Amino acid sequence: MAEQIVERDLADWHAARSDPALIAAVEAGKVLYFPRLHFALWPQEAGLLRPTLLAEGKRNISLDADGRLKGAAGDADEQAALAGMIGRFRTDAQALVHGLLPDYTPHLRLAPTSFRPARVESRAQSWRADDRRLHVDAFPSRPNRGERILRVFANINPEGQPRTWRVGEPFEDVARRFLSRARTYSRWQARLLQKLGITKSLRSEYDHLMLQLHDGMKGDAAYQQDAPQQTMAFAAGSAWVCFSDQTPHAVMGGQFMLEQTLHLPPEAQYNPASSPLAILTRLAGRPLIP
Ligand code: SIN
Ligand code: FE
Repeated sequence: MAEQIVERDLADWHAARSDPALIAAVEAGKVLYFPRLHFALWPQEAGLLRPTLLAEGKRNISLDADGRLKGAAGDADEQAALAGMIGRFRTDAQALVHGLLPDYTPHLRLAPTSFRPARVESRAQSWRADDRRLHVDAFPSRPNRGERILRVFANINPEGQPRTWRVGEPFEDVARRFLSRARTYSRWQARLLQKLGITKSLRSEYDHLMLQLHDGMKGDAAYQQDAPQQTMAFAAGSAWVCFSDQTPHAVMGGQFMLEQTLHLPPEAQYNPASSPLAILTRLAGRPLIP
């Protein structure tokens, strides 16, 4: 398997410049890794790095696109400090993406920014929710009809612990492997799911197939073990970017990370033919969104 991680020496969130090689790499589903791109906390923010700031039963703390903080415990001062830290990261992550991928800028839709203070190794989850298994991101309740999921991650661990991922094979290889086993799409079932409020909009055949890939990968123990993959320790004080709907990934360890999600219509890519929608449509031989 060719190298799935492309490294650059950038050290300033606001100094990224576009580079055709990086653009092609991220649109091919590779991870852009910036080992020196450090998100610096303010001294008074050091106390925010503790999992007890998670509200009962929550995995993440998030700042939604309207600036509302969700999932946090703590008093009013701590919540304001959390919103400040997460909001500062949002600004930096957006500047990075605008610099690296300038043609995306007018088409991006801001999604929540998350702070993940839980220790990955201690999370207990059902197999479907277990992000320690290789998967591409696809969300059962939120059909997206091919809209891209671009994510910026920063490891802010204060003790030098890396965030360790496994990064899998190219998307087209995943699709070829799992499409033949995918259940057939049923439009009446999709309508029913929408009517019952289980999905927020109609699940398209594209969304159905993406979930089949997500579940097919996570549910296959042999694939988890034997699929082409590389283990990658993202250093404390580093940042990385990928299309998480395209790059197979699994998180194996670490604690304290910030993450920004940005959505992009696939038509706004430099090379729309590299999107999961284009690849799945080509392999299926029919339109997958009505
Ligand atoms: C995921 O997106 O699957 C998890 C990434 C992480 O928490 O590092
Ligand atoms: Fe994921």
